[in-house]
Amino acid sequence: MSNYHIKNLEEYFQVYRKSVRNPENFWEEIAEEHFLWRKRWDKVLDWDFTKPEVKWFEGAKLNITENCIDRHLVTRGNKTAILFEPNNPEEEAQHITYNDLYKRVNKFANVLKSKGIKKGDRVCIYLPMIPELAISVLACARIGAIHSVVFAGFSSNALATRINDSECKMVITSDGSYRGNKTIDLKGIVDEALRECPTIENVLVAKRINANIQMKVGRDIWLQPLLNEASEDCEAEVMDAEDPLFILYTSGSTGKPKGMLHTTAGYMVYTAYTFKNVFQYKENDVYWCTADIGWITGHSYIVYGPLANGATTVMFEGVPSYPDYGRFWEIVEKHKINQFYTAPTAIRALAKEGLSHVDNHDLSSLKILGTVGEPINEEAWHWYDDNIGKRKSPIVDTWWQTETGGIMITPIPFSTPTKPTYATLPFPGIQPALMDAEGSEIKGNQVEGRLCIKFPWPSMARTIWGNHQRYKDTYFSSFENKYFTGDGALRDEVGYYRITGRVDDVIIVSGHNLGTAPIEDAINEHPAVAESAIVGFPHDIKGNALYGYVILKDTGESRNQENVRKEINQIITEQIGPIAKLDKIQFTQGLPKTRSGKIMRRILRKIASKDISNLGDTSTLLNPEVVQGIIDEAL
Ligand code: WTA
Repeated sequence: MSNYHIKNLEEYFQVYRKSVRNPENFWEEIAEEHFLWRKRWDKVLDWDFTKPEVKWFEGAKLNITENCIDRHLVTRGNKTAILFEPNNPEEEAQHITYNDLYKRVNKFANVLKSKGIKKGDRVCIYLPMIPELAISVLACARIGAIHSVVFAGFSSNALATRINDSECKMVITSDGSYRGNKTIDLKGIVDEALRECPTIENVLVAKRINANIQMKVGRDIWLQPLLNEASEDCEAEVMDAEDPLFILYTSGSTGKPKGMLHTTAGYMVYTAYTFKNVFQYKENDVYWCTADIGWITGHSYIVYGPLANGATTVMFEGVPSYPDYGRFWEIVEKHKINQFYTAPTAIRALAKEGLSHVDNHDLSSLKILGTVGEPINEEAWHWYDDNIGKRKSPIVDTWWQTETGGIMITPIPFSTPTKPTYATLPFPGIQPALMDAEGSEIKGNQVEGRLCIKFPWPSMARTIWGNHQRYKDTYFSSFENKYFTGDGALRDEVGYYRITGRVDDVIIVSGHNLGTAPIEDAINEHPAVAESAIVGFPHDIKGNALYGYVILKDTGESRNQENVRKEINQIITEQIGPIAKLDKIQFTQGLPKTRSGKIMRRILRKIASKDISNLGDTSTLLNPEVVQGIIDEAL
């Protein structure tokens, strides 16, 4: 037996030991007993971190949508698969059953085929959180097209960069989106982006807000009439275990976003198995993850993981503050949510609004609470535990990444005793290591280091689209024969892990990864800017906010600094999106640099967080004299 469902701490340790002693055997049993295969694998695992190359279930044939939909039809055909809760609370929720989902995915898949989309083609999906988003993702998977979902809060520039990097043939979007009491002109953003996207042949447009939009003849097509005509049956494309399933972009420390490529079988097995255990999903539970499908959390734990388990998964179109700050709790009460998975930034924002929005809702259905995306501070953890879980619902603080595909370090609820701010123990199959600066593994407990993973797991990204060298350099070159996460972590006296934050140039703002380089590039486009550097500084709600140090060109003219500040944020909004706007901008005369010309962000971070008592070693600076000037300006 594979212990697919872990029920207590003893079982966890037993399963964990087995997963480490004989990983191939461990994953083979899980794959065998819980999934639908067209053909069995020839080999469970083949790997070489020096290339790097990782293959799971090589030789197997399958289609992930048959696992997420078809196989549930006999036993769960009338069960709600996707429960759609609209932005406007007065609009009725939609219960999309597994039978409905089957038909809607097949129809959509047939539409894609009729527009020439084939196995291996890339399709960009730029949609709000409406059912068409999940359905189009699954429709791509049905026919073997590679989906690249771009979060619908990204700007036209960011969208164009992503479309071009993976040479998408099609964009799927909508006539607009609702966000609280606002509407957003998504189609306008797509039109702007497509001015420089030569590979796009068609744009499929879903109707959501009935906006009067422009349709480019020959390129843009309304979706609904095509769906009306399409057949409800679509044979699933038979995929190899290692065929690509999707690309999802994440920020890196250099300018260009990284298109992380995930493949089929391993991703399916790992997301399904983690979903089952981390959320202890039972047949009639209603599960809600508040993430957007535009991020990895939505891919793995709104769409694939839950559906592979035949779960009911909620999709919420709106925002936590609309019509008021009680919206999340109203939805929990309305749909009797059992598992609730959100981000620390949302918890902090809601905690700030006080308990009046919480106490008037019945939250007794909740069994398990989760968080993801950034470290959760102790205060937010306790607020969540006391007021939402009423100290009876364990909090699963899940650490993982776009690159890892699924949850890596997490408590198993009702098994692992939780500890505030700790992600606790590795999930079965995950072998973490903490490394010191010299590249040696730090053994034992009560230690701190850089977090690596020593052994492959099924859902790890296989490459960066179009740039395998960058994949190798970023993740497999810092420490020999190990995957480097880019995070720091500590291990306490009982072996629990606590993630301390990024050790590279990525800043996590409201749970979104932002690389410093693309934002600095955007700032530098302002005609008055000579140079810039950004760092994160602590923020009550967002976790981190962005602090920009900007050197203006010396043109002899006087400038209105307030205007320049506004213009800089305007450019950032256009280039990247509003999530990357700077909270503070300090105009400065110089930036601290090492002899090799690298900005020493450590110092800038300390100044930004007003922690200047100990700036650390500045002896390697080329220009130590600028530091005092920056401090004086900041105070
Ligand atoms: C951070 C999100 C602390 C971490 C699934 C990681 C966390 C990055 C946690 C990945 C957590 C994620 N505790 N930090 N529970 N979860 N992170 O790719 O720095 O959007 O490397 O994936 O978020 O963010 P990504």
